[in-house]
Order: sequence, then C-alpha cells, then structure tokens
Amino acid sequence: MNGIRSARWLVLLVVSSCVACAGTPESEAFPTPFEVIAHRGASAYAPENTIAAFEKAREMGAVDVELDIQLSRDDVVVLYHDSTLREKTGERGTVRDYDASDLLEMDIGRWFDRTHPEVEESFTGTRLCTLAAVFERFGDTLHYHVELKSGDEALAARALDQIRAYQLERNVRFTSFEFEQVARARALAPDIPAGLLVRDASRLRREAGAGPEVSTASLQRKAIERAKAAGFDQVAFAAEDLTPELIAYAKDEGLEIRAWRIKNDGHMHRAIDLGANGMTTNWPDRVVRELLLRQRTRTAE
Ligand code: G3P
Ligand code: CA
Repeated sequence: MNGIRSARWLVLLVVSSCVACAGTPESEAFPTPFEVIAHRGASAYAPENTIAAFEKAREMGAVDVELDIQLSRDDVVVLYHDSTLREKTGERGTVRDYDASDLLEMDIGRWFDRTHPEVEESFTGTRLCTLAAVFERFGDTLHYHVELKSGDEALAARALDQIRAYQLERNVRFTSFEFEQVARARALAPDIPAGLLVRDASRLRREAGAGPEVSTASLQRKAIERAKAAGFDQVAFAAEDLTPELIAYAKDEGLEIRAWRIKNDGHMHRAIDLGANGMTTNWPDRVVRELLLRQRTRTAE
C-alpha cells in the first residue's frame, strides 16, 4: 500500500468516526462531515470528466468525485462540462447535437496535454465517456456528485435510470447551479441527497439585477433559504465567497455547506478553517495531505 492509499484509509477512518456538527470544535482537526471531492475527477492530473481522472482521484484517496452530465442527441447521459465542444474536443456544436456513439469518439486528452504541459503523462486519445461507463468501472467504490449541467428537462430522469440500473442510489448526490434541475432530481428521487450550487458573488448579483442597496450577503442567505424550503440537503459556494456568517447560517438552517472553485491552497485552507463540510478540488491529493497533517498535529497535542 503506497503513502497516498494509506492516507485515504486514514482520512476515511477519521471522517467516519466523527459526528456531524456545526463549525469545527476545538477537539477536532477539521469540520465534520468533511468530503474531499475530486472536481471532474482529479482534473489537475488527467482530462476532466474521464475514467482516467476518476482513477487518479481514487489513487489519491478521494472517494468522492464530482462530474458534469449532459444528454446526447439520442438521450444517453454523457460526461462533459462546457456548453460547446469546440475548446476541449475541437468539434463543432454541443453535446446535444451528437449521438453518443459520435461523442465517445471525441478526444479530450489532446486538449489536456496542450493545456497542462506540467503533467508528464500524455493523455492524447482519451475519449469522452458515458455515466454508465463510469458506474460500470467504479461501482460503489466511489461517491458521485452528479452535476446536472444542461437545462434539459429529461436529464435527471435519464441519470436516475443509470443510478438505479447500477443500484448506486446510496452513492450519489445530485447538484446543479440550476435550481429547477435540483428540484426535479429531488422530486424524482427524494432519498438521494440534493445540493444547490450557488453562483459566485458577482454573477449572483448580476443575475438578481441587484443594485447597490442590496447586499451580497442577503442574496446568499436567500439562496440558502430557498434550498432549505425546497428540502435540499446542501448548498455550495465559491471558496472566495465563504464567510463565517454564511457557514453558520447554512448550518443553522440544517444544511451542509461546501466550497467550489478552489483555485489555490489559500482557498483550501480557508474552506477548512471556516468550517465548510468539504470542497470540490482539482487537487484532491493536497486536501487529503492537509487533513492528515491537521489530524496528526491534533493527535500530538
Ligand atoms: O462543485 C461545483 C463545481 O463543479 C462547479 O463548477 O464549473 O466545475 O461546474 P463547474
Ligand atoms: Ca461541475
């Protein structure tokens, strides 16, 4: 067992032995529950939303992975983040313009190699994949944070078909920036946890048409209240937007709160220090290492 794998098991042991609480009590090294969620897989090390990225995440000790789904023209659930295919595959149009058989021929590895020269391994030839292929490969060894990326009304139902086919209801959470998409998932599968991703402060203000008299904090609180009223289980905010008040407010409302858009170690520390319940990160290995360090320091005190 290498260092990273043993770290994974220690983290699991530590996390699973804690009880849920608001904030980070003095007696604990980090907030609980706490999830290290590999963002689109370990996407700093392999092309996002591919089997290779989830494999890396698992090797690094992340049992939680986030992935983006959209529907192909023939209604197959395919992993892809962007609204168009151009930048990452070089193809025209959108995921919805193609049948799955065409999409699965598209190469996202060439883009990764070009944009990540610091990664020695070459991923050219790595193709897009379906949600079913991910479930087939990893089964219940991972927890999947399934982000409903497109606004397609059938998306949650088609994803649920796959989740049920692989009996992974207990390993899945639905998320989306689109409130209606989370609500659809919640209505279809009340037992599967549902989380609202909240836009970053500037976009939140823009979309709300907020003038100078409206505070960002009030819009953020409204998002939390809306998630709570709809029966969702969690909310997630951009790491830069997290404040102690925001985290306390979400927890007081009975919601877990996570951080997204971790751009650097400063964001990672901030999310942990403020008491978030986890984060989606392109570098899950760094978070695993940080949690282990904190745990070791706390044990030694
Ligand atoms: O965890 C949420 C995060 O995935 C949102 O950002 O751009 O990756 O969909 P994005
Ligand atoms: Ca995402």
